[in-house]
Amino acid sequence: MSKKIIVVFGATGAQGGGLVRAILNDANSEFAVRAITRDPNSDKAKELTALGAEVVAGDVDDPASISRALADAYGAYFVTFFWAHFSAEKETAEAASYAQSATAAGLKHVIWSTLEDVREYVPLDDDRMPTLQGKYKVPHFDGKGEADKFFTEAGVPTTFLRASFYWDNFIYFGSGPKKGEDGKLYLTLPIGDAPVAGIAAEDIGKCAYGIFKKGVELIGKTVGIAGEQLTGNQMAAAMSKSLGQAVIYNKIPASMFRSLGFPGADDLGNMFQFYDEFADELNKIRDVVTTRKLNPELQNFDQWLEKNGKRIPIE
Ligand SMILES: NC(=O)c1ccc[n+]([C@@H]2O[C@H](COP(=O)([O-])OP(=O)(O)OC[C@H]3O[C@@H](n4cnc5c(N)ncnc54)[C@H](OP(=O)(O)O)[C@@H]3O)[C@@H](O)[C@H]2O)c1
Repeated sequence: MSKKIIVVFGATGAQGGGLVRAILNDANSEFAVRAITRDPNSDKAKELTALGAEVVAGDVDDPASISRALADAYGAYFVTFFWAHFSAEKETAEAASYAQSATAAGLKHVIWSTLEDVREYVPLDDDRMPTLQGKYKVPHFDGKGEADKFFTEAGVPTTFLRASFYWDNFIYFGSGPKKGEDGKLYLTLPIGDAPVAGIAAEDIGKCAYGIFKKGVELIGKTVGIAGEQLTGNQMAAAMSKSLGQAVIYNKIPASMFRSLGFPGADDLGNMFQFYDEFADELNKIRDVVTTRKLNPELQNFDQWLEKNGKRIPIE
């Protein structure tokens, strides 16, 4: 019998790449992979072809290319790329294109990589954090959360996947420890003493594969995933052990983080404040035991550090 095709957007990136590898590393998988990239000739795309994926050109901003990509498919993994443009409105429109194309293609199972609409927790007139881009609290969360309705209203058989803070941000996103003027290493985050849900980026795709394997059981459900929930002090202690030098958690107010001045600092400052003030709600939906059932290889922070600690740049 021919395998059921899963179309993976963001296939050369963190979330989609993890899903592509999870499916293709399973020789007995009932699924085949159609990996979508804007450039099928890139080195990363060629690596996916070598692994056994069908690589197809597509761009989330070109709805016709989404429709072409979904032809004859069973399911799709939809992720949007906020940090490529920083616009929540654009991200919401991209998700709407995904939902419309999924309906037209008659897909049987979609995973939409979404996040909370923070405005449901902190209304726009709540001035504990500034309103950004005119009508958002955490633009890269709110646009995704707002877009959930497109999938629901169109009757797309969807699992709503809420990932956690990637620990890989300590390597690639400038979130790692920095040397202070006193020469000591500081992990500077505005998360108070709250335990924050984190995950190895590679594990997100493995969880998504677990969701596709479960199938109908998880359609219409929101699934949060995390590898571990740790406070700033706990993350700093684990890093100290892994790096072989003391890392000190530097707890700063969200307002100070927002004013750091790099692009997106205000969005991330609001996000960390949300993590801090709503940790119970966020962690409840990102249950580690449930996550491990989807992905038995799920890593905790120590395991992630063992593999990746040496790659954290110390500036
Ligand atoms: N960092 C975190 O802690 C975190 C946590 C939860 C959620 N998220 C969310 O994760 C999302 C990003 O996912 P990711 O981390 O997997 O991304 P990523 O690693 O940055 O990879 C994105 C991939 O998507 C492709 N891409 C970029 N623009 C595209 C477009 N217009 N059309 C089609 N493909 C495009 C690129 O591939 P090609 O160049 O090959 O086309 C790229 O390899 C963001 O929206 C972010 O908010 C992040």
